[in-house]
Formats: sequence, structure tokens, C-alpha cells
Amino acid sequence: MLARFFTRLIDAQGIWARPLGGFVQRILKAIFGPLHLVKDFLNGKWLGHSLHAALSDLPIGIYTLVLVFDVLGQREAAGIALFLGILAHAAAAVAGFADYTDTDGRPRMVATVHSTLMSVAIVIYIASLVMRSNSGDQTVPIVLSFVGYGLVTAGAYVGGEVAYTLGNMVNRHAWRFMGAGKWQALDVTEIAEGVPVKAKAGAQTLVLVRQGETIHALHDTCAHAGGPLSEGTIVDGCIECPWHGSRFELVTGYRKRSPTTYDQPRFEVRVSESGGWEARRVTSGSAGTGEH
Ligand code: FES
Repeated sequence: MLARFFTRLIDAQGIWARPLGGFVQRILKAIFGPLHLVKDFLNGKWLGHSLHAALSDLPIGIYTLVLVFDVLGQREAAGIALFLGILAHAAAAVAGFADYTDTDGRPRMVATVHSTLMSVAIVIYIASLVMRSNSGDQTVPIVLSFVGYGLVTAGAYVGGEVAYTLGNMVNRHAWRFMGAGKWQALDVTEIAEGVPVKAKAGAQTLVLVRQGETIHALHDTCAHAGGPLSEGTIVDGCIECPWHGSRFELVTGYRKRSPTTYDQPRFEVRVSESGGWEARRVTSGSAGTGEH
């Protein structure tokens, strides 16, 4: 009941959040476009999941401390905590903007509502911090902190919608392949050299790339947001997703460029007794384990 009300409330923001999201995303793409290594770091490619998700708890915890210190009359401690909270908030925001750069459709609209709430909150917190530096009456800056906390709480709820309801930055293969792989016949008769080829192996859709005598096989669904890798391009021994440019190494399935923070499920391919090919999921020491 309450959740449906919140969903309707968020959807009603689409009238401003959709165009604003498109505008902000164009700016972010221009900023991050030439900064692949920075974006890799901010997305959390090195961490194995979104860096924003890991950082976002910090400001909420620290802002809670600000409230506690204010209620207890510990003005100096509240000011220090507020300063640290704003720093943590800014760090989480920068990482969040890296994820937002590659977010589309409804997730982007909801993420725009989330980031707007958080941006207004940090402005209010900065105003509170500045006002606290005056030795006069502290009522207004304290009230501002409470307002900021309300906005951050609302923003955190909306952020939860983006991740948990809409699955943004969630591994698209999280529930796949829990058991040992079985050999499955591939439904292709020709695999041209160096060209991505889409193929079915049982219920799974793969992308195959032949390099000489070796046929590399990865799952076709990009771990980032489900893009079709078979429509991608081969770059430096990797396949690049056509949707947001994530790269996965053909030999291992390891992530080589964000926005994905996950590896791609890998398959081995052999000639079948009937003369065609068959594929089997590689389940040990392979992509998806985050072991590199
Ligand atoms: S779906 Fe986003 S990079 Fe593949």
C-alpha cells in the first residue's frame, strides 16, 4: 500500500526528471568520455560491484551522528561530523554520477529523482555548516540539518528503488549457472574469423568469436545491463558491448572496462561427435568469480 503510493509519487516526477536526466547525462558523458580509467575507478571495476553502493552508507551514518550531537547540545562535535558527512556525501555523489552516466529509461528517471534529492540535501547541509561557524543562535542551522536529513532519507529510499526494484548496476547473471555446466549443442554451422556470432546452447544465448583454431564463447547478455554482446565489436582481444561500452576479455570473460563491475560468464567450445560444435559453461577459476 505504502510502497504503491511511493511508486506513484516517484513516477509523477517523470515530467521534469526525464528531460533533466537526459540533459545531465549528456554533460556527464562529455566529462567521462575521455576519462576511462577515472570512470573505471568510480564505477567500481576494481571493487567487483558499484563503488557508489559502498560509499552511500557513509554520509547517512555520519549525518545521523550530527542529529544525535545536536540533540545532546554537542555543537562542536556536530560541526565536525557535519563537515565529514558533507565530504562523504560528495564522494558518494561523484561515484554515483559515474553509474548514472550509463543508466537509461525508467532507471535513469528514478535515479534523477534520487540525485536531485541528494543534491538539494548537500546544499542545505553546506548552508548549515556555514551558518554554524557564526557564534550566534544555532537554531536555524540545526533546523536545516533536520531538513537535510529528511531529504537524504527520502533520497536513500529512491536510490533503493533504482538498485533493488529496477536492478540498476546489478549483475545480470547473478542467478544463472548455479550448477555444473553440461555440454550443449550449438545451433550454428559457420563461425567466421574475428566476427561476433550469436548462437544458442540449450536455453543460453552465447556470443562466439573465432580466432584461428580457437573459438571463444561468452554469454551474450552483458553483465552490466543486458546489452547484446553479439552486436558488439572486437577491440584489443575484448568484446565491447554496443550499449555502454563495457569490455570483456574474450579468453577469460574478465571485465576490462566499466561500466560493468562484473565478469561475463565464459564457455568452452569443442567439436561434437556429430560434426557440429557444442559448448559448456566454465565454472571454476573463470569469469564471474571476481578473482583477478
Ligand atoms: S549493457 Fe551496459 S555496457 Fe553492456
